[in-house]
Amino acid sequence: MDRYAVLGQPVGHSKSPRIHAAFAASLDQKLLYEAYEIAPDELGPSLSRFHAEGWAGFNLTVPHKQAGAALCESRSDAAEQAGAVNTLIRTTSGWHGDNTDGAGLVRDLIANLGVEIRGKRVLVLGAGGAARGILAPLLAEGPAELAISNRNPWKPEEIAAALKPLGNIVPRTHLSLKGDRYDLVLNATSAGHAGAIPRLPPKLFADGGVAYDLNYGQAAVPFMVWAKADGAARVSDGLGMLVEQAAEAFQRWRGVRPETAAVLAGLRG
Ligand code: ATR
Repeated sequence: MDRYAVLGQPVGHSKSPRIHAAFAASLDQKLLYEAYEIAPDELGPSLSRFHAEGWAGFNLTVPHKQAGAALCESRSDAAEQAGAVNTLIRTTSGWHGDNTDGAGLVRDLIANLGVEIRGKRVLVLGAGGAARGILAPLLAEGPAELAISNRNPWKPEEIAAALKPLGNIVPRTHLSLKGDRYDLVLNATSAGHAGAIPRLPPKLFADGGVAYDLNYGQAAVPFMVWAKADGAARVSDGLGMLVEQAAEAFQRWRGVRPETAAVLAGLRG
C-alpha cells in the first residue's frame, strides 16, 4: 500500500490525515496517510530515509516548507515562485517539490466561495512564507491591483522585486494603506496565532469587500471579527484552502482530483 505523511513540528493538530483518508475512501483507493513530528535538523536525513523505505509522498507544514524546497531534487514553477514546498512527490532518485497552497486558495475563493479576483483590487497582509506562496497564483487570476503590505517595510519590496517577471505587485506598509479600499483582503500574517491582528487603518474594504484569513480555527477569529466590524461584507477562514490544497496534492500523487465539498462540510460539522 502506498504510504504518505505530513511532516511538521508541531503536527499533532493536523487535519491532513483525516482529509486524505476521506479523499481515499471517496475514491475507493487504498493508501496510508500519517502525521510525523520531525525537528528541523532531522528533515534532510528523514527524507533520505523515507525515500529508501519506499514512501510515495509527503506534505510539509510549519516549519519545513522553505527548508524542504532546498532538499528537493527538482521543483515545480509554483514551488520556485513560492520559495517553498508543501507537497513532495517521489521520483526514482529523490523528491520532486511542488506547492499547492496558492492553487488551493484560488480554488476555495472562486469555486467554493464565489469570490471574483479578476479585475478586483486585492491586498495581501503579511510578507512571510504564507504570503509569498499565494502571490503568483493570485496574479495569474488577473486582479486590477495586487498589493502586499507588511509591518516590516522591506519584505514587500523584496518580494515584489523577486516576482516582477510575473507581473506587478505593489509593495506597501500597513500604516500607508490609510484611505485605500480593497475588494479582497487576505490575512497571511501569523498574528492570529497570538490572538492578535496587524495594526491597520480603518475602512479598508470597498463596497461588497471580502475578508479571508489563511488560518483556520481560533487563529482566524481576531481578523474575521475585526474585518466584520471594519465593514467587510463577507468573511471567511482558510479551512477551505486547507482542503483544496490537499485535493491538489492528492491529484499530483494519485492522478485524480477528489471531490472536496463533503470533506469540507464534515470538517466544519
Ligand atoms: P508564515 O510562514 O506563516 O508566513 P513568517 O514567515 O514568520 O510565517 O511570517 C509571519 C508574517 O506575519 C510576517 O509578515 C510578520 O510580519 P513582520 O515581517 O513585520 O514580522 C507577520 N506578523 C506576525 N505577527 C504580527 C503582528 N502581531 N502584527 C503584524 N504582523 C505580524
